[in-house]
Amino acid sequence: MIRRFSIPRRRGLVPLVRGPLAALVFSLGCAAAQRGEGLDPNAVPPAMRADYELFADRCTRCHSISRPLSARVRDRVHWVNYVERMRRQPGAMITAEEGERIVGFLVWYHDEARDGGAR
Ligand code: HEC
Repeated sequence: MIRRFSIPRRRGLVPLVRGPLAALVFSLGCAAAQRGEGLDPNAVPPAMRADYELFADRCTRCHSISRPLSARVRDRVHWVNYVERMRRQPGAMITAEEGERIVGFLVWYHDEARDGGAR
C-alpha cells in the first residue's frame, strides 16, 4: 500500500519571502495601499507646477501615480535611470526634454516635499 504523506506545503514558501523579494513585495504593497492618490496641486510651488502636471500626465499612463510618488528613491542619478527606463517602455512617448523636467520634479518631491526631510 502506498501511504499518502500530507505535504507540508507552507514550509517551502518561507525562504522565498526573504531578502530582496521581501523588499519588493513590501514596496509593491505600499504602492498599492496608496493607489489613486495624487498631489494637491496647491501643495506644489507655482514654479514646479507645470512639471508636476507633466509628470502626472506622462507617468500615469501605465501605472498609478503612487508608483513613482511612493518609491523610496532620493537621488537624482537614480531618478534619471528610472525615467530613462520608463521612456524606453513601449508606448511611453516621453521625450528626453520631458524626462528631464520630470526628473526635476521627482527629485524636488522626494527631497523636499515628502515627509519634510525626515529620513
Ligand atoms: C509605457 C508604460 C509606462 C510609462 C509611461 C511609465 N511607466 Fe513606470 N513602469 C512601467 C512598467 C511596465 C513598470 C514595471 C512593471 C510593473 O508595473 O510592475 C513600471 C514601474 C515603475 C516604477 C517602479 C519600479 C520598480 O522597480 O518597482 C516606478 C518608480 C516608475 N515606474 C516610475 C515611472 C515614472 C516616473 C514615469 C514617468 C516618467 C513612468 N513610470 C512612466 C511602465 C510605464
